[in-house]
Amino acid sequence: MQKILIIDFGGQYNQLIARRVRENSVYCEVHPYTMALEEIRAYDPLGIIFTGGPQSVYDPKSPQVDPGIFKLGVPILGICYGCQLIAWSLGGRVTAAQNDSAREYGKTLTHFDRSCPLFQGLPEQSVTWMSHGDYMAEVPAGFALTARSDMCPNVAISDETRRFYGVQFHPEVEHTEYGRQILRNFLYAVCGASGDWTMADYKEQSITSIRERVGSGKVLLALSGGVDSSVAAALLSEAVGNQLTCVFVDHGLMRLNEGDEIEAAFSGRELNFVRVNAEERFLRRLSGVTEPEEKRKIIGEEFIRVFEEEAGKIGAVDYLAQGTIYPDVIESGKGDAAVIKSHHNVGGLPDYVNFKEIIEPLRMLFKDEVRQLGRELGLPETLISRQPFPGPGLGIRVIGELSKEKLDRLRLADFIFRDEAEKAGLGQQMNQYFAALTNMRSVGVMGDGRTYDYAVVLRSVQTSDFMTADWYRIPYEVLDRVSTRIVNEVRGINRVFYDITSKPPATVEYE
Ligand code: XMP
Repeated sequence: MQKILIIDFGGQYNQLIARRVRENSVYCEVHPYTMALEEIRAYDPLGIIFTGGPQSVYDPKSPQVDPGIFKLGVPILGICYGCQLIAWSLGGRVTAAQNDSAREYGKTLTHFDRSCPLFQGLPEQSVTWMSHGDYMAEVPAGFALTARSDMCPNVAISDETRRFYGVQFHPEVEHTEYGRQILRNFLYAVCGASGDWTMADYKEQSITSIRERVGSGKVLLALSGGVDSSVAAALLSEAVGNQLTCVFVDHGLMRLNEGDEIEAAFSGRELNFVRVNAEERFLRRLSGVTEPEEKRKIIGEEFIRVFEEEAGKIGAVDYLAQGTIYPDVIESGKGDAAVIKSHHNVGGLPDYVNFKEIIEPLRMLFKDEVRQLGRELGLPETLISRQPFPGPGLGIRVIGELSKEKLDRLRLADFIFRDEAEKAGLGQQMNQYFAALTNMRSVGVMGDGRTYDYAVVLRSVQTSDFMTADWYRIPYEVLDRVSTRIVNEVRGINRVFYDITSKPPATVEYE
């Protein structure tokens, strides 16, 4: 399989570059700039991409590369910091932009030299997305200038002989109109990619390697019903069949019919499926608890306890499987941001469950690839296109104290919202949408009588990474239908609110 190597200098769009490469059916991995030259050689890249980064190449503390990388005979594309690094390393001059004109941020009209393979098929000018305070005052010997903006003459450089290219803008972001084409050109016109990364092949390769690794051992997987653990389960069941046991802890905090759907999706497969109906014990432990972090902690702990009990019944397990995906792998070990909410998901299983090794069959895949693999494995679309759902489930969507009655009401209101949103064709545009039950009661009138009932709040966001999010503008007619149906069909609810706060300052979930 052909492989692109992405060398990470700490820019904010690094995962996006990798996704764009993979979307073009070319495999790639992101590695830190500290990767040794020997490792790079052993990786045997078809091409190398240097990412952007926050530093200045002329700062002695800035991340650099072993100059040997330029002697490997492998094409290199440098983006932003990566572009400046190529220029700087090969004898050019990079300086802080002296005036505002050379410092560029945001959308910039750019003119391309279309005889450069990187820009073939592009119009003579189009918009690119810039974000740089440094600029290449002098380009190194052997390089030509291949793009300019009205403000800056040195927007892109190329050395056709050595196949080194650099762009000051970010081709990986949506705002760069022909960014996808530029990256595709690098892969196909410059590196000679054949597009041999397909999910069908990946599936076969994974199955073979899982079989080799596991032999006749037993594998245990905690199935949450989310996309990742479901796809991992389907893949492992194809690989090792009955040696796999999936434990699905139904904590009673799932959405309407969700538990049954998960069971139905896995009951026809050759694997041991255990559904533990633990609603009662979860609700008992949560009774009277109102503080969000305490709720999260209790749900996480109880989950582990139930899971351990089941693992104990199965006996000695050799492997614990997890649905870890590539963004988690890339992110792990980066920074130590403040804990806003202690996330619980099935990935946080106890290390004291008795097993020898961990298997993470999705650790090199992005979310969209996980979905593709799920389709390849024949999982139903309802499972595959499921929006993210937090590990603590509706436990953190009933604000304040939980009860079965409140959960049932919320399940129905949430179902109505999702049903109407899908009928209106909004499902694809909203990245996450759900109803939550507030702990506010208010007076209303129904028929001729007074009501004193709870209010439901609708939440819908658009986001690419869930770190920041904008509230989605649902058309009023749709909101009207949802609101009317909820107050008519769900007993105990007499008001519907629509949340119009973005993240930050709010978060997606309420607790
Ligand atoms: P917040 O509320 O932090 O949510 O803005 C961002 C995204 O994370 C999801 N989320 C969770 N996912 N376990 C998870 O697996 C959790 O405990 C958890 N809490 C929030 C949330 O649904 C949104 O997609």
